[in-house]
Amino acid sequence: MTKITAAITAVAGYVPEYVLTNQELEKFVTTTSEWIETRTGIKERRILKGEGLGTSDMCAPAVELLLKKRGIKASEIDLIIVATVTPDFSFPSTSNLICDKIGAKNAWGFDLAGGCSGFIFALTTGAQFIETGKHKKVIVVGGDKMSSIIDYTDRSTCIIFGDGAGAVLLEPNTEGLGIIDSILKTDGSGGKYLNLKAGGSVKPASHETVDSKEHYVFQDGQPVFKRAVIGMAEVSAEIMEKNKLKSEDIAWLVPHQANKRIIDATSDRMGLSSDKVMLNIQKYGNTTGGTIPLCLWDYEKQIKKGDNIIISTFGAGFTWGAVYLKWAYNS
Ligand code: UT7
Repeated sequence: MTKITAAITAVAGYVPEYVLTNQELEKFVTTTSEWIETRTGIKERRILKGEGLGTSDMCAPAVELLLKKRGIKASEIDLIIVATVTPDFSFPSTSNLICDKIGAKNAWGFDLAGGCSGFIFALTTGAQFIETGKHKKVIVVGGDKMSSIIDYTDRSTCIIFGDGAGAVLLEPNTEGLGIIDSILKTDGSGGKYLNLKAGGSVKPASHETVDSKEHYVFQDGQPVFKRAVIGMAEVSAEIMEKNKLKSEDIAWLVPHQANKRIIDATSDRMGLSSDKVMLNIQKYGNTTGGTIPLCLWDYEKQIKKGDNIIISTFGAGFTWGAVYLKWAYNS
């Protein structure tokens, strides 16, 4: 029997219109545009403005564009998995809301909270349903409205994060293209360095939690930075070694976009020149679940059928990992 792999057959994204520049941030916190750009690589990020809008309002248009590009109906979708740390609500899931918004009447779905590695955790999960033959069309979405949990008086976090969403369609492939391998890791002892302290079952929302700003992202940047550099570089090298891939075999690295210096350390370790590294941190910042599909969307026209791609991420949890895939189409 021919082996079925799960291949990405379309990619789309959505970013809000409002552009928050480094210069504008200089008005909220003690920082400089130059510091932000040299220490992170970020020039600007997008912010979802408007009353009553949440993560699903970015994911739904991304999925609608995805369906249009592939020329399929929402009713054909079997499953939608949404990687997010900023769901519209604790429940119902953002996936359920997206299904309703786009009319995916025959789909089931759920949200997956894997921090900045959420998208590759969801991608690997979605791939299993294709590989087993259970489903024919699975959509994996990564999206976050990070501005909903950012304190714009905290210069260690507000300079990094932005809003955005991206989506990919997974379909069966029998040519040996698609997702070939993944290495996924977690270390919960890292939770203390990057978290949201209140709003969960341990510390439900109260006047006190609001007053002490515990519904905003807390990040101790340096330890996260150090672990991210090691984690992303090592797991990327590990997946190359496991699949007997040399630098010259790799067409693209798709790194999580948290800090340009982390990305550079990863590509250096893999022996890749900068022209093989997807980068959009300068215009979107860190969109958490959104960074990987947004990169694929931006670079789609440059990717060729058969290209070897390594996706590599690190984020809150800690969570990290790498996916090796062979691109399945020319656009
Ligand atoms: O995606 C999820 C995972 N997250 C990450 O991967 C983020 C990892 N961390 C980082 O990217 C970096 O740690 C930050 C960008 C958050 C901070 O950069 P850093 O180079 O690690 O800065 P630092 O915290 O070591 O601070 C260095 C200096 C300090 O001043 P002194 O003590 O040397 O005088 C800070 O007070 O830079 C200062 N500083 C700033 N200055 C201007 C810290 N933040 C800022 C700022 N503007 N926004």
